[in-house]
Amino acid sequence: MATMESLIGLVNRIQRACTVLGDHGGEGMSLWEALPSVAVVGGQSSGKSSVLESIVGRDFLPRGSGIVTRRPLVLQLHKTEGNQSEYAEFLHAPKKRFTDFAAVRKEIADETDRITGKSKKISNIPIHLSIYSPNVVNLTLIDLPGLTKVAVEGQPESIVEDIENMVRSYVEKPNCIILAISPANQDIATSDAIKLAREVDPTGERTFGVVTKLDLMDKGTNALDVLEGRAYRLQYPWVGIVNRSQADINKNVDMIAARRKEQEYFESSPEYGHLAHKMGSEYLAKLLSQHLEAVIRQRIPSIIALINKTIDELNAELDRIGRPIGADGGAQLYTILEMCRAFDRIFKEHLD
Ligand code: GDP
Ligand code: NA
Ligand code: MG
Repeated sequence: MATMESLIGLVNRIQRACTVLGDHGGEGMSLWEALPSVAVVGGQSSGKSSVLESIVGRDFLPRGSGIVTRRPLVLQLHKTEGNQSEYAEFLHAPKKRFTDFAAVRKEIADETDRITGKSKKISNIPIHLSIYSPNVVNLTLIDLPGLTKVAVEGQPESIVEDIENMVRSYVEKPNCIILAISPANQDIATSDAIKLAREVDPTGERTFGVVTKLDLMDKGTNALDVLEGRAYRLQYPWVGIVNRSQADINKNVDMIAARRKEQEYFESSPEYGHLAHKMGSEYLAKLLSQHLEAVIRQRIPSIIALINKTIDELNAELDRIGRPIGADGGAQLYTILEMCRAFDRIFKEHLD
């Protein structure tokens, strides 16, 4: 059916509903946990933000030194048809459409501070950002704080451990697809991303390895051992990336030009030329989108089962409160119940 909502879009809607309900994939029974998602993991300055921006084709993430990402950012990309203009929307400000991506960046920073204060602490309450654009693939990515070894000035000592615990709470879930980012100018054996991925996914069946900064390797060295899977084996092929350098960013090299430059880099490279068609951020975006869609499709029966369990629990709760419902709490439960029924119906359509 051509008109059917994409599975990724559907899961996005459930995840947003879960967030409104206060279900962030924390403790207890969680619908969120049953839904596949892609979490971006890596050490500080490994290139996580750059990879995300390159996948989106827009500059929109806060930058700076120190720990900039202090709340999970659930980034939902929705591919729109035709030549509609791009816009972004936050779950916490649903009425507002952002067409200026500099304003998106500022809102992420402000919304981070709204919860964490200026204390530079971290919080596990996610920020939900949706981007609607004809230039994206359907995909949901969760940006997490960068793994770090030392607290910087003004940040509490515990932050190193807090970040690791937060990142771990996402990647240890069996439904989490791990996008592990490692810079090429550092030994893969010491990569924070790979260390954590190895621990929670030893067989590499849900880890996608990404190597950034290929252009920054010492002359005479290359990353073929990693990219060809010899240095660290994963079930899926590794993807090499060349993001914008700091100098490019300072010169305002736009993302589309950067993507073109990246493709040229691979095509003209004596070392990586033979891999050029499987390298770069555009390829990575397509690979992840297809994989996420396939994983969701596989899980439809268990997602339906879980939605039905949720429906039963909501019904029991509504019976306990007593119907018809008057109180706000009851009304909210009723809304959720209706939503779950709708999800159940649409998922079943996908089964046919
Ligand atoms: P994050 O801390 O993991 O989010 O890393 P960023 O994406 O902010 O990147 C940190 C710095 O490394 C920035 O100055 C980027 O411009 C630079 N950088 C990231 N990826 C690459 C790359 O592939 N090549 C080059 N030359 N610089 C990169
Ligand atoms: Na790393
Ligand atoms: Mg970053």
